[in-house]
Amino acid sequence: MSLQTRALHPLFVAEATGVDIRAPLSAADRDAIVQAMDRYAVLVFRDQPLSEAQQIEFALSFGPLDLGLRKVNKSRVAHRFSHEALIDISNVDVNGKIADRNSRKMYSQLANQLWHSDSSFQQPAARYSMLHSVVNPGQGGETEFADLRAAWDALPEDIKALISPLESEHFALYSRMNLGDNAYTEEEKARLPAVRWPLVRTHPGSGRQLLWVGIHATRVIDMHLGEGRLLLAELLEHATQREFVYRHQWQVGDTLMWDNRATLHRGRRYDLTERRELRRTSTEDVQ
Ligand code: OGA
Ligand code: MN
Repeated sequence: MSLQTRALHPLFVAEATGVDIRAPLSAADRDAIVQAMDRYAVLVFRDQPLSEAQQIEFALSFGPLDLGLRKVNKSRVAHRFSHEALIDISNVDVNGKIADRNSRKMYSQLANQLWHSDSSFQQPAARYSMLHSVVNPGQGGETEFADLRAAWDALPEDIKALISPLESEHFALYSRMNLGDNAYTEEEKARLPAVRWPLVRTHPGSGRQLLWVGIHATRVIDMHLGEGRLLLAELLEHATQREFVYRHQWQVGDTLMWDNRATLHRGRRYDLTERRELRRTSTEDVQ
């Protein structure tokens, strides 16, 4: 069997079948996945429960692994997994209990409910993320994706002209601080200095332009702070309107793979006293 895709949304996102992602990938399967990612930006692999080691192996087929915010949190948040690059997307603490409501862990889960692209606060940022579902809450806790290439295509010409020369600054802790999680030391903040990105980028795999926004963007360079933040909010609202969004209803054993260069994502609200456990790997966006 070889990779087959079935579109799940008019603009992007496909279900992928025909490849066992639990086994080492052949070069041909790997290339087929990259090609499908360039087209669809989000692939859904159903019903393939992955061990921790299998998830690491799958991710490593696509590049070096990204640690993202663990660079800051390493010393503060204990790890539940066998490999440092397995990112714990859950509301469960290191003892396997529901995490304290005010813990950094829980704040991370809340921050994930804001539209973002993984690790856009660093360079290199993340290229692919692979998120694997282990336990789902009874209600809510879906993950949504927005298509940034379609968002760019749909912008009015005057806005395209306005933003084409502009850059914005992305900072890792901006989303957390906005939600009230302020207890970061200067040393921790210094570990993830802000980075600059153009507001308009080209997606290498498809050659399409895209609107590069998200919650990590704190300001527009060389623009009045308030006006810049309003512009970023307006662009984010544009990029995440319903027609550009796919909502994924998780089933245990699903693995979603997305291209952080072409999409935003966010989790949806759920009852934090219920367990929700997913495991993520991400690759660095390096050549
Ligand atoms: C992530 C993320 C959202 C969710 O895994 O990077 O943002 O639904 N997840 O938990
Ligand atoms: Mn994320």
